[in-house]
This record gives sequence, C-alpha cells and structure tokens, in this order.
Amino acid sequence: MNIELKYFSGTGNSFKIIDTCKEMFTQNGNQTSLSSISDKLKLGESAELIGFCFPVYAFGIPRICRKYLSNLSKIKKPLKAFVLITAGDSQEAGFSVSESTTLLKKKGFDVIYTKVIQMPANWTVAMNPPSKEDARSMIDDGIVEARRVVQDILNGEIHHHIFNYPPKYSKFGFYKDYYLFKWLGLSNFWREFRVDETCDACGLCEKLCPTDSIQIENAIPKWSKTCEQCMRCVNYCPKHAIFQKSGGSIKGKNIYFEPSFKPLKMKKENITKRV
Ligand SMILES: Cc1cc2nc3c(=O)[nH]c(=O)nc-3n(C[C@H](O)[C@H](O)[C@H](O)COP(=O)(O)O)c2cc1C
Repeated sequence: MNIELKYFSGTGNSFKIIDTCKEMFTQNGNQTSLSSISDKLKLGESAELIGFCFPVYAFGIPRICRKYLSNLSKIKKPLKAFVLITAGDSQEAGFSVSESTTLLKKKGFDVIYTKVIQMPANWTVAMNPPSKEDARSMIDDGIVEARRVVQDILNGEIHHHIFNYPPKYSKFGFYKDYYLFKWLGLSNFWREFRVDETCDACGLCEKLCPTDSIQIENAIPKWSKTCEQCMRCVNYCPKHAIFQKSGGSIKGKNIYFEPSFKPLKMKKENITKRV
C-alpha cells in the first residue's frame, strides 16, 4: 500500500504517535511517507491511505489543522483516511475527532478509522503536566496503542471514536468552554505570553516555533496572532522563562515535551519546512 501521513505537533506527542505508525506500516511492507501539515498533501495516483495526527486543543483541533483540512482540494476518487488525536486526557477530546472527520468527509475522504490516544498533557501555562516517570509510562502506552491502530487498519478493521461529554463537565460547561476557547481563547491568548527576568533572549523560542510566530525585538520575544499556543516555546525554553499573564510563572512545574522529539534538529536537517 502507498500511504501518506501528516501531522501537527507542538511538543512531539502527535509526532511520536504518527511516526510509530509510519514505522509499523513500513515494517509491514508499505511505502509510507510522513511530513508536517506545512508541506502540501501530495496525492499521487497511487495513494491508497492517508493518515492524520493532531493534538486536541480546547475540545477541538488546533486552528492551523482546521484551516489545513478546510483548504484541502476535493478528491476525485474515494480515498481511505484515518485520524488519530492525541489528548492530555482521552475523556476530554471533545469534538476534535468529529471536527476532523466532518472536514475530511466534505472533501470526499472515506474515513475508516478514528481514535483518541492519551498522551501526557503539555498545557504547562494552564496546568501542571505529569512527572517525568508518569509521562514516560503514558508515552509507552500511547506507542502500544498506535501499533494496535496500524494492526487494526492492516487487518481491515473499521473503528470510529464515540463522542462523550467530558465527565468532569456539565453539558453547559462543556459548550461554554468549547465556544469560548474556540472563538476567543485560541485566537487571542497569544497576547498573554510574557517572559520573566531570566530570559536572556537566546532566540531558541523563535527558532523552534512551528508557525514562525515569535520574533525577538529589543531582546524580548514577541508573539504574533499566528501563534497556536502549542506550548513548544514554553516547554523547551531552557530558563522556563515563558508564561502566560493569566497563569503566572511556570517555574516549579513539570515541563513537558516528548523526549525523542528534536524539532530544531529536524528543521536543520530540512526533514520538513516547519515541524
Ligand atoms: C492550548 C492547548 C489546549 C489543550 N486542550 C486540551 C483539551 O481540551 N483536552 C485534552 O485532553 N488535552 C488538551 N491539551 C493537551 C494536548 O492535547 C496534549 O498534551 C497533546 O498530546 C499535545 O500534543 P503535541 O505534543 O503533539 O503538541 C491542550 C493543549 C494545549 C497546548
């Protein structure tokens, strides 16, 4: 089979999951390519399966992923697709799966498999991510889950994630947060980013940003509206100097990124335009 895989990932969870899928598909004799959504989907004549992996942001998918799926051209012949969503809490994936599948179906894709995979939560400005040990065991479980997904797909199994209201939320609370975050939070909270006095303007955040939304001006990083709040800058900052005004300093919290995810190295090696 000829397979194309696409991802968006701030701190490496979605990358780890889809890269594990790539490995498994390849081991099983399939020709598999993997690239970030900053590279165009190359739907060659021979493409037989497309896979996507995104994180859940505020019960939906990141704006950049929604835009990417909305801008895909309508496909001419039916093409199978699968969608994997990584979530900090698999019970809080909200509409992330349905948002993606609705957009893909509109473009003519036959969505055969959808699943939410729990990975460590990376939203360091708003909560405390798990400890290193807990994160490791969650990642290992996620990898097992990703391998299972590939096995299922190769066996021809069909699976659709079933939406449930997050147990900690009332229906009202869920819809309130979903719409507030979708229309206000995700497009505006980049304004909240600040650095504390330990920032030495090393420029790593600027280099790492997957959407090129950070610029160092007068030795201070400045964020712009294309920021997805993916938390890469926050979690990779060697000084833990970046925070959001409303959340306060992240010093003393568990910072998180998937340990094997090396976005700067990938960028330098030009594995993909942006990672
Ligand atoms: C802005 C933002 C919002 C998030 N919202 C949710 C959420 O609603 N539900 C959830 O389970 N996890 C949420 N998370 C956690 C991420 O979805 C989770 O850690 C994901 O695996 C990160 O993937 P990545 O490392 O590929 O970026 C959120 C993270 C961020 C940065």
